[in-house]
Amino acid sequence: MKMTKVQTGGKLYIAGEYAVLIPGQTAIIKNIPIHMTAVVKENSTIKLSSDMFDYSATMSEDKNYALIQASVQTLAGYLGKSIDELVPFSLEITGKMERDGKKFGIGSSGSVTVLTLKALSAFYDLNLSDDLLFKLASYTLLKLGDNGSMGDIACIAYDDLVAFTSFNRQKVAKWIADEPIQTVLDKDWEYQIEVIKPALSCEFLVGWTKQPSISKDMINLVKSAISQEFLAATEKEVQICKQALQTGDKESVKKALQNVSDLLLGLSSAIYNDKLLALKAAEDGLDVIAKSSGSGGGDCGIAISFNREDSQELIKRWQEVGIELLDMEELA
Ligand code: PMV
Ligand code: MG
Repeated sequence: MKMTKVQTGGKLYIAGEYAVLIPGQTAIIKNIPIHMTAVVKENSTIKLSSDMFDYSATMSEDKNYALIQASVQTLAGYLGKSIDELVPFSLEITGKMERDGKKFGIGSSGSVTVLTLKALSAFYDLNLSDDLLFKLASYTLLKLGDNGSMGDIACIAYDDLVAFTSFNRQKVAKWIADEPIQTVLDKDWEYQIEVIKPALSCEFLVGWTKQPSISKDMINLVKSAISQEFLAATEKEVQICKQALQTGDKESVKKALQNVSDLLLGLSSAIYNDKLLALKAAEDGLDVIAKSSGSGGGDCGIAISFNREDSQELIKRWQEVGIELLDMEELA
């Protein structure tokens, strides 16, 4: 019997969050090696299971399984088939990105969308490119009315450190409503995804505040505060940071990340809640730059450390304020 197993990881924003909601703006986003796994097998009917829930679903409407079902629907559309024409399968998803019922906030909904598409791509031997996976996952989320930039999807589909320049989602959403899927996929959406190869010897650390935050609500809260000044200033720092990562210019990386962090602080007081303020303050006197990541309000923050002893001190300081180290890795 045919059986396929695939994985997807998580993501965290390093720079450019909020600004990237506006088309043409760039964000730097890091893949996080905490994985979800999907196993697909031939089955007599379509059966969907996730360890998030204590029951399985079919393709009949189910709120909990809506994202997975929509991803299956997208893939069927891409193949030019109806659901009934698909070779049926069972899809089993495991690896909740959470602990003790609290989510990490590293992109689980984006990850499950890419995971479902990647799993079916493997099962049907489609060999979809990272770029097509990105488009199909974005298509799925836009169709469901997601209000994000799709930067998370770019990072998770490529499973790498990326610079993502956003596209006009309103325009693409209109295409999705008006035109067949193949026509929409064939068009140039005018985004850019560039894999960044850092040349900087440093450690990347993820601190989990254990305070769940809902990106969708944060976006609705903060979006109206985004100004042209914020966009221009953020883009400038993101480009400096990208360049500096690639050339190994430590001081410029630190300065650019400090500046984008200050810009976020000025954007809305909701972004740096007390826990994230403490996560950042822990860098004091260390060869480390720390900041909030993504929509803020809780979830995770990040740090880049240029000294191993300082990394250990940072981890200790985080522990003292109830921030848990989720991931630590060499950037280059
Ligand atoms: O909270 P996260 O890690 O999903 O990041 C959201 C980043 C935003 O720019 C605020 C929204 C988006 O989708 O780009
Ligand atoms: Mg978040």
